[in-house]
Amino acid sequence: MSTAENSILGLKMPTDPRWADLASISLQDILTDHAFCEQKAATQCISLIQHYAEREELVTALSPIVTEEWGHFRMVWAEMKKRGFELGRQRKDEYVNLLLQHEPKNVKEEERLLNKLMICALIEARSCERFRLLAAYLEDEYLKQFYHKFMISEAGHYHLFIELAECYSPKEKVRAAWQKWLDIEEKVLAQLKPRGNRIH
Ligand SMILES: [Fe+2]
Ligand SMILES: [Fe+2]
Repeated sequence: MSTAENSILGLKMPTDPRWADLASISLQDILTDHAFCEQKAATQCISLIQHYAEREELVTALSPIVTEEWGHFRMVWAEMKKRGFELGRQRKDEYVNLLLQHEPKNVKEEERLLNKLMICALIEARSCERFRLLAAYLEDEYLKQFYHKFMISEAGHYHLFIELAECYSPKEKVRAAWQKWLDIEEKVLAQLKPRGNRIH
């Protein structure tokens, strides 16, 4: 991804394009990891709806995303079956776990929600960036298109989480929180080696 495109998403650390070469080597692992990422995205939206049931905008905005993310899982699973791959087991998501370690505890409810929405936006932005690399560098023409569609969809989700945060916190506060989480994500990524068998 070019610096300009990265700056749209705001991400501080561009992924080394060699990651997509690595990814193409372990396609089954990437698809397995991707399938579980989509499941986690759906369940994360469900748990936000359950936890913030009284927040109408959130429930309305995230309900269709649950369906969409679950649809993504089904698309990845269909692609795996087509290729004779097994779903495999879910692996520990070090990227997400490291991000969550930075979630401040004992904060007011508004701030807790803001942080949760920022983490969701970050995961969407980074997924979007990785899908773009897969669309650009994988050799398989069909998979290029496949990942192009995911890239567009996750970019939309990134915007949605930022806009949702702006429903509940002033814009300047959202901007400051986003910058803080971008810095955290840069440090988290520096701790992880690019792994060709994982989306993150
Ligand atoms: Fe998705
Ligand atoms: Fe998403």
